[in-house]
Amino acid sequence: MAEPSRILITGGKVVNEDCSVISDVYIENGKIVEVGLNLQIPAGVRVIDATSKLVIPGGIDTHTHLDLAFMGTRSVDDFYIGTRAALAGGTTMVLDFSIPKKDTSLLEAYNSWRENADAKVCCDYSLHVAVTWWSDTVKKEMETLAKEKGVTSFKMFMAYKGVFMLTDAELHAAFSQCKEIGAIAQVHAENGDLIAEGAKKMLSLGITGPEGHELCRPEEVEAEATQRAITIASAVNCPLYVVHVMSKSAAKVVANARREGHVVFGEPIAAGLGLDGTHYWHQDWGHAAGFVMGPPLRPDPSTPGYLMDLLANDDLSVTGTDNCTFNVCQKALGKDDFTKIPNGVNGVEDRMSVIWEKGVHSGKMDENRFVAVTSSNAAKIFNFYPQKGRIAKGSDADVVIWDPTKTRKISAQTHHQAVDYNIFEGMECHGVPVVTISRGKVAYEDGVLNVTPGDGRFIHRKPFSEFVYKRIKQRDQVGQPTAVIRKPYEGKVSSV
Ligand code: URP
Ligand code: ZN
Ligand code: ZN
Ligand code: ZN
Repeated sequence: MAEPSRILITGGKVVNEDCSVISDVYIENGKIVEVGLNLQIPAGVRVIDATSKLVIPGGIDTHTHLDLAFMGTRSVDDFYIGTRAALAGGTTMVLDFSIPKKDTSLLEAYNSWRENADAKVCCDYSLHVAVTWWSDTVKKEMETLAKEKGVTSFKMFMAYKGVFMLTDAELHAAFSQCKEIGAIAQVHAENGDLIAEGAKKMLSLGITGPEGHELCRPEEVEAEATQRAITIASAVNCPLYVVHVMSKSAAKVVANARREGHVVFGEPIAAGLGLDGTHYWHQDWGHAAGFVMGPPLRPDPSTPGYLMDLLANDDLSVTGTDNCTFNVCQKALGKDDFTKIPNGVNGVEDRMSVIWEKGVHSGKMDENRFVAVTSSNAAKIFNFYPQKGRIAKGSDADVVIWDPTKTRKISAQTHHQAVDYNIFEGMECHGVPVVTISRGKVAYEDGVLNVTPGDGRFIHRKPFSEFVYKRIKQRDQVGQPTAVIRKPYEGKVSSV
């Protein structure tokens, strides 16, 4: 039977980032057509009862690496499996990163990501593009991507020396161009020079296992780069988005900068909000290697709770996963040298439940803040709000019926991802998506997926997101330095 394109969700509590209200939601042809009570609905509509449940905007994962060729191998969750798993977890859109190799075209990378993803995605998606080298061509291509290709966010790496890392002067140039074209600059904030030196030191001490990965890049290495990125962005009045904030000290740097008025956003990820880095010291090599990612999870066990506190209080803004999954045998490429362990962890399927459990069930944030940090802030920052990130008339019908009382235990035995382990293995979470509707189609219901590759669409984004750029533009108008008007100096000038 063809999937009905008209759905009425009845009796649920509709939760947006600013309010919650008991309402029905009527969906037609992929859009939300009405939100309210006693709606006049045509006959033949599929009715879904959401009594005692929440009706929330579908999750938006701001940070994935599906099917990424990286560190000599390729991440195992591709655009089909990854977006399918996302839907099972209540996420209806992902933002992935197109990453060109050094000295290669950004546009070609974008085209190849589109070609790969468009045919496979089961939910909507968009792309950030990485700037891994600098030239006039790169500058021009950034403009083309922003004006013609719907890409208005660019990731710059301060780590991965010799592969992706940019110098401070290159960061300055890239941030300046982001500002010029109305994009948001994103940074992977870790000091790549210090990591390279730290790694040599650990190996010379005979530390070859996964613990070396954290020991060579302690949290100051992340905090220093975060502060430097903020300083450079501020020098050119460019909005900044710090991806994967993993440590207390880096999070404090972001929080302080926001309090000083900088336009900066911090993105913690599900792994960092749910887990700490003590796993790197686990006796079992495969277990420890499974958590290797950059920046690493932090051994300080108070880190996840601290990051969640800052997320709850708007010091941090939005959540992703950095889903970049490698099976244990791929991780084993680094069995004798931690620098060769492919970096990345899972999260795309479990982010919503982990944040509900550690954020809402724990009492740190309410259901509205949950919506803000799992979808609406992302839609505002990356400029597709209220098309997504809101349950409202005219918005895309990306809707999740969420049961806050139901629990589930996360396990690789039951997850929908391709990866053969799960970093959250055994975690019991309150907060379960019972129905996920993507573009008006019931894609997941009571544990059963109904998806087709290519169901999702590429979301084309426009530059100069108001949420990000209003303050930036005003500061440009009123905040330009001006010269002091004085009489010319008429005294003696020493001869040289
Ligand atoms: O470990 C990570 N984070 N892998 C993906 C690449 C990146 O830096 O985001
Ligand atoms: Zn990164
Ligand atoms: Zn462990
Ligand atoms: Zn990443």
